[in-house]
Amino acid sequence: MAEIAVIGAGYVGLTLAVGAANMGHDVTVGEADADRVADLRKGRCPLFEAGVGDLLREGLASGHLTFTTSNTDAVTAAEFVFLSLPTPSAADGSADLSTLMTVVDELAPHLGKRVLVLKSTVPVGTNRDVTERLRATGCPAPVISNPEFLREGTALADFMSPDHVVVGGDDPEIVAQIADLFNLDCPVTATDPMSAELVKYATNAYLATRVMMANSFADLCEVLGADIVAVTTGLGRDHRIGPHFLQPGPGFGGSCFPKDARALLDLGASHGLDFPILAAAVEVNAARQERMADQVMAAVDSVDNPVVALWGLAFKAGTDDTRESPALRIGEMLAERGVTVQAYDPEATAADPIEICESAVAATDGADVLVVATEWPEFTEVDMVEVATAMRGDLVVDLRNLLDTEQIRAAGLHLRGVGKPSS
Ligand code: UGA
Repeated sequence: MAEIAVIGAGYVGLTLAVGAANMGHDVTVGEADADRVADLRKGRCPLFEAGVGDLLREGLASGHLTFTTSNTDAVTAAEFVFLSLPTPSAADGSADLSTLMTVVDELAPHLGKRVLVLKSTVPVGTNRDVTERLRATGCPAPVISNPEFLREGTALADFMSPDHVVVGGDDPEIVAQIADLFNLDCPVTATDPMSAELVKYATNAYLATRVMMANSFADLCEVLGADIVAVTTGLGRDHRIGPHFLQPGPGFGGSCFPKDARALLDLGASHGLDFPILAAAVEVNAARQERMADQVMAAVDSVDNPVVALWGLAFKAGTDDTRESPALRIGEMLAERGVTVQAYDPEATAADPIEICESAVAATDGADVLVVATEWPEFTEVDMVEVATAMRGDLVVDLRNLLDTEQIRAAGLHLRGVGKPSS
């Protein structure tokens, strides 16, 4: 078992820390936010993430997991130092590495030969830049790129049982050490740092583009009178394509796809390379949310003081995260155009001008249109007869094709899905 430091207790860092402690490693987490550290020390999990809270409390109780606000204290006993720091979009779309580089500078005098592992999603070439930065201070620490592929909502399961692991570094022995650290039973791509960094961006860019392909097929279905469910089922049964990430909806959001797509476009542009397929996916995604808001506006065109019930604010089900959420964006666009938006989400929340309601049914009170924007399974359990009674209008716009067509029809409501004939 190893001594591990994890710097940054966000989704990636905290999941890694509790998972590694559960495996028996000794893990010290450095986190700058003192309130977050105080909560974590008390076993309070700041993430809505299945299993992470339980392993947090288990790690604290076993003594394998400790938290500190001092990054330099965190690395004192460590053999391996994982950096899982935010790399948000800068104004020009590039990845903002200022937090990461500040921590690298802070740690440089304390690292010695400890292995520095970059977990954050960073532009291709960052490993090289970090290495040069360390060498300039005389620090000999090897730098390894080990991108994380976990999804919000299933973060712990994805960390514990990944499809694969990617480790990039210049020293094959150290690459092998990192690949073996968590004894994960999966294929390992051992490669150079640049390739490891690019695998991460390529994966998110590919998946984001694929989601937009599915959405474009849904648009085609609507104008042609075909059914997207049959189309994606057939597509997904071709083993060269597979069934995942073909679900049409309000577009992609979250803290990763939009940011990473922008960063990859910026990276290409900085080397004089256009990436028109990815640029189109980003453009079509933004336009999609606008168009969906337009469609709802058209439905309430003739209504005075229109009211829309919005089911869902999170960017997808299973998380309370609303970063770049299509659901939230559509709600905001409707509110900006004078609609009263009454929202309900089991975990996520929003600020004015969106009104937050206590239940899914409460959100439909007096509503002209119900918009289903996040695919929370509990929405399928709501009594649609109660919804029909509460609503002023009768239109349900199901942007996730979540609800049961028959139930909606039986309740006397009118359903408009995505890529399907209306009923
Ligand atoms: C994504 C990747 O899936 C992870 O592998 C990666 O580690 C992570 O980004 C990251 O870079 O940290 P996440 O952002 O949690 O994970 O969310 P996804 O489940 O990938 O969904 C992204 C967006 O695509 C959501 O808005 C979702 O609603 C949308 N989506 C996804 C669809 O509209 N249709 C689909 O079929 C799948």
